[in-house]
Amino acid sequence: MYRSRLDKNLDKHTLDYVSSISDDSEIAIYDIIGSQAHSIMLYENKILSKSEVKKILVALEKLKKQNLSDKSSAEDIHELIETLVIQRTGLAAGGKMHTARSRNDQVALDLRMKIRDDINTICNCILDMVETLVVLAEKHTATAMPLYTHLQQAQIGTFSHFLISYADALLRDFERFYDTFGRVNHSPLGAGPVGGTSLPINRNSTARMLGFSGIVENSIDATSNRDVVAEYVGHVAILMTNLSRIAEDLVIWSTSEFSFVELSDQFSSPSSVMPQKKNPDILELTRGKTARVIGNLVAILSNLKGLASGYGRDLQEIKPSVFLSSSTAISALVVLNSMFATLKVNKQKMNQIADSGYLAALDIAEALVKEGLPFRTAHKIVGKLVQIAHESKISLSELTASEVARSVSEREFDAKRLGKIISSINAQSSLQSRSSLGSAGIAEQKRLITKRKFTIRQYQKNMARRSALITSAIEKLSAKVRLLSR
Ligand code: ARG
Repeated sequence: MYRSRLDKNLDKHTLDYVSSISDDSEIAIYDIIGSQAHSIMLYENKILSKSEVKKILVALEKLKKQNLSDKSSAEDIHELIETLVIQRTGLAAGGKMHTARSRNDQVALDLRMKIRDDINTICNCILDMVETLVVLAEKHTATAMPLYTHLQQAQIGTFSHFLISYADALLRDFERFYDTFGRVNHSPLGAGPVGGTSLPINRNSTARMLGFSGIVENSIDATSNRDVVAEYVGHVAILMTNLSRIAEDLVIWSTSEFSFVELSDQFSSPSSVMPQKKNPDILELTRGKTARVIGNLVAILSNLKGLASGYGRDLQEIKPSVFLSSSTAISALVVLNSMFATLKVNKQKMNQIADSGYLAALDIAEALVKEGLPFRTAHKIVGKLVQIAHESKISLSELTASEVARSVSEREFDAKRLGKIISSINAQSSLQSRSSLGSAGIAEQKRLITKRKFTIRQYQKNMARRSALITSAIEKLSAKVRLLSR
């Protein structure tokens, strides 16, 4: 349809090469709604007559119900929709729809509308998952478990503390998306191909009709920049990286060696050959899909970095990276949320491991500090205790009085008193005395949970308000469409 100055058509193979029609099904609905707002604005500014706008709006409305993914000779969804509108209304009316706009501002608009919706979906999914984590944390404020650094046993902790660490990372993801929405929610429509138009359009009016909070003002910037797209996919990559780490923890904890947790059968996979297997494929795929999303981000940045200002067709290749990132993040959040909701937690095993080995070493050292010892001396004494216990293959609480005495000199600390301290410390006492802000201490868990519950409620309210703004704009637009279609 666009080949006015070109004599020959693209052959089938070349058309497939340049066409984005198969990716564009994701933005078809936004292209239709955006075209309706644009046509109404053209009518309100006397560029279209009442009967012309009516025909166009009716034709666009019909397209909402049509499957637009089928192959045609169109290069993309913009050409396909315009062609179908012209087929229905005739050139006299439909041929005016593309007045004062270009596919360049159109695709930028569609992408922003799509990302805007995806951000809201992701934000809501994150809040759902955080809620699940906090509900589970509430049941495990006194479930002791070992904490690790370098994947070596480090300190006695609580399972709820671990779960809240996930919730907090996800809440930061939420905040990142929430902030970016403000930058995405500006309309590029009416920027034209690159330099605007001489026709009397009203960009603010289309922006308002589509629920945007403003416009991307500079027409070059509006049509050729995709920095907010990269920002969005960057956030998806960070979110997936967080989910991937959570997945890895669960993979480790669900091994027979750890057996801290057991995945529900619904979220496990069998082996084709080993009948005993219960594999964490979903978690492994979360790690694998994260790699793909990181790849998408790299693809987008690589696409943009050498591009001259003003639309270049390279930008078309960004779209699948965005769509794939969105759908991956949404599914990952939904699946992991259900996995946590059905997770079996092996409290006994966690408690037992937390009470074994040398996890209380730092607690013992801190008890010595409370007795007035310099931390460095305490560190040395407890290090010695661990060394002796390790040589005899026993835990600290199993050390005999003479073994304790071997670890400390008379002038450093009284050996008997040290023995008493060792036997008074276990996982539960350690968690009772841990009191610093944000620590694994049992009292801290309750405070952390209460605060997160409040934050979740606040964020849910903000999301409802934000979604309502878009919904009401789109409903108002639909009402206008109905009115003008009469
Ligand atoms: N299919 C194109 C895209 O997705 C639409 C814009 C094409 N613009 C152009 N001047 N060739 O980016």
